[in-house]
Amino acid sequence: MLVSGKDLMKHAHENNYAVGAFNVNNMEIVQAIIEAAEETQSPVIMQASQGGLKYAGVEYIAEMAKIAAKNASVPVAIHLDHGTDFVQIMQCIRNGFTSVMIDASKHDLDKNIEITKNIAEIAHAVGVSVEAELGKIGGTEDDITVDDKDATFTDPDEAARFVNETGVDFLAIAVGTAHGPYKGEPKLDFDRIKVIKDKLNIPLVLHGSSGVPEESIKKAVSLGINKINIDTDIRMAFSNAVRKFVNENPDAYDPRKIVGCAREDMKKVIADKMRMFGSTGKAWK
Ligand code: G3H
Ligand code: 13P
Ligand code: ZN
Repeated sequence: MLVSGKDLMKHAHENNYAVGAFNVNNMEIVQAIIEAAEETQSPVIMQASQGGLKYAGVEYIAEMAKIAAKNASVPVAIHLDHGTDFVQIMQCIRNGFTSVMIDASKHDLDKNIEITKNIAEIAHAVGVSVEAELGKIGGTEDDITVDDKDATFTDPDEAARFVNETGVDFLAIAVGTAHGPYKGEPKLDFDRIKVIKDKLNIPLVLHGSSGVPEESIKKAVSLGINKINIDTDIRMAFSNAVRKFVNENPDAYDPRKIVGCAREDMKKVIADKMRMFGSTGKAWK
């Protein structure tokens, strides 16, 4: 069933677990996510980045995700990941997304507040939840690159002011993770997560979570992370499976076989994350 991002996150916040937010770019990924969610009885978020929307088109992504959500027995929210463009955010809302992220983290605090507040007012008027980002998460997503030296951790006092003035529903915080594959092991600032959670008492979001060790993920969840974004680990599962299939079957030419073989491997990765996040068995009616 399709649900609002706010309801999904509220349940996770009140029951101390994290919902997996998995990036979708094509039909096979949508299917892998929904099958993993059904199998583990997990609430789930399907999210599309600006790059994903450029690749597949907002209508294709929205319709695929809505069909999957409508037919699922578990609660599903459809979310825009790292939105930076007002018009695109409106298009997502018009196409049935139940949650959006406005990422104005590249601006200074006052400008970030101004942009985020505007989106929150509009989205809330039509029942759509809003995630924002404060601090700068390192690494690259399609349209945004933050050098590791420019990544800045979220300041707890600024976060309190930010949430108070913007009215956002959940906040992405920079605490040591980065988008894309890690070179070494990521070191999370757990104390910072705790301080921010105590001050804000709203659902917190961890980006760049692929490759973060299980122990760190579990600790972050226990301290108040309620949404965990995963993209790179799905991409790895997909590309490894396709590469293996093509190497073993060099004469293959049926796209259903070449791409379809990756669905099961992606599903396994996603189901394992759901277990790690504590969302298994948390599907509500
Ligand atoms: O937040 C980052 C996601 O990995 C999205 O990546 O912009 O290349 O789709 P993308
Ligand atoms: P990873 O690609 O590191 O999993 O990060 C995903 C993400 O944060 C999407 O917003
Ligand atoms: Zn992200």
